[in-house]
Amino acid sequence: MAALMMRVGPGSFASARVYRPALCSAAAAILRSVSVSATQSSSLPERVKIVEVGPRDGLQNEKTVVPTEVKIRLIDMLSEAGLPVIEATSFVSPKWVPQMSDQEEVMRGLHKKAGVNYPVLTPNLKGFQAAMKAGAKEVAIFGAASELFSKKNINCSVDESLLRFEEVMRAANQEGVPVRGYVSCVLGCPYEGKVSPNKVAEVAKRLYSMGCYEISLGDTIGVGTPGGMTEMLNAVKKEVPVEALAVHCHDTYGQALANILVALQNGVSVVDSSVAGLGGCPYAQGASGNVATEDVVYMLHGLGIHTGVDLPKLLDAGSYICHSLNRRTNSKVAQASCKL
Ligand code: HMG
Ligand code: MG
Repeated sequence: MAALMMRVGPGSFASARVYRPALCSAAAAILRSVSVSATQSSSLPERVKIVEVGPRDGLQNEKTVVPTEVKIRLIDMLSEAGLPVIEATSFVSPKWVPQMSDQEEVMRGLHKKAGVNYPVLTPNLKGFQAAMKAGAKEVAIFGAASELFSKKNINCSVDESLLRFEEVMRAANQEGVPVRGYVSCVLGCPYEGKVSPNKVAEVAKRLYSMGCYEISLGDTIGVGTPGGMTEMLNAVKKEVPVEALAVHCHDTYGQALANILVALQNGVSVVDSSVAGLGGCPYAQGASGNVATEDVVYMLHGLGIHTGVDLPKLLDAGSYICHSLNRRTNSKVAQASCKL
């Protein structure tokens, strides 16, 4: 391990080689066999857009500073793996989230690949203006269906946050910049407990009416179950067309893949996930990482659903970031690929 860390560790970036555990023939055959081979059920979408949130949602929660060049290399590896959207960083206060304080350098350093979007989080006009200066072409605003979470996360009530987001939206419209909207705590809140599906639907509707082209429904602390997901989606779909919905599942209780499958059966075709299952929210204690992108891709390909993602290259990206952070992957597929 020490030797590997020397090769891929932050200090040796220039000469870093990706650690790629030799896949045994059984593992390689299994990965090949899930490449969009199954007969697809008619109730599922033909294609799913994966929004990779690892570099932002994944790394924002790391205790030790992740070097900027490691973040950039990760983003580049993810774009090489075929991810169509990679949330690159966030333009939030460095006092609140120190891990994202190199947002400008990240935006300037990444090698933009044609056809790939690199959205960034902007909680207010100040963040939006900084994002524009750094060359961002798409932003995301992030609200919540829980008052207490909103206060802890962005220091204002839900209504106040929506007023701030309207300012961002006006500025974005002037610049012709698309805006994505998040609703956090859609299946439960770390401070308020149960969250009403109607409240989720109300906030989603307001973000959509404001002009967000897509609304990502976040199970921020990963407490949801397929039953709760169905109930919540039924309420939201009355207010926002399902084509404009995405799901963003953290995997704290191991329910994320089941929740995603239920969302697909409900017509959702955009899924957020994080390479190696990195992440959590600094203002939602105990929340684990997002569902691992590798596991989502494996499931989708097994269902015959196209993603455009190259799973072996994605596994390389997961392996790179785990070795850089000296941590174990949370992806079951990555774990199995090493062991098989
Ligand atoms: P505030 O303290 O209320 O802001 O924070 P303020 O307007 O009173 O300003 C206070 C200071 O912050 C001032 O600086 C401002 O200039 C500065 P000072 O005069 O003290 O030196 N400031 C900023 N600096 C940089 N960028 C900005 C910015 N705005 C103000 N954009 C604020 C309000 C929103 C800024 C703060 O609460 C914040 O940064 N929160 C970020 C929280 C965060 O990033 N959480 C994680 C992302 S959300 C998430 O993970 C959930 C999600 O994944 C979905 C899910 O899982 O459900 C999306
Ligand atoms: Mg999240």
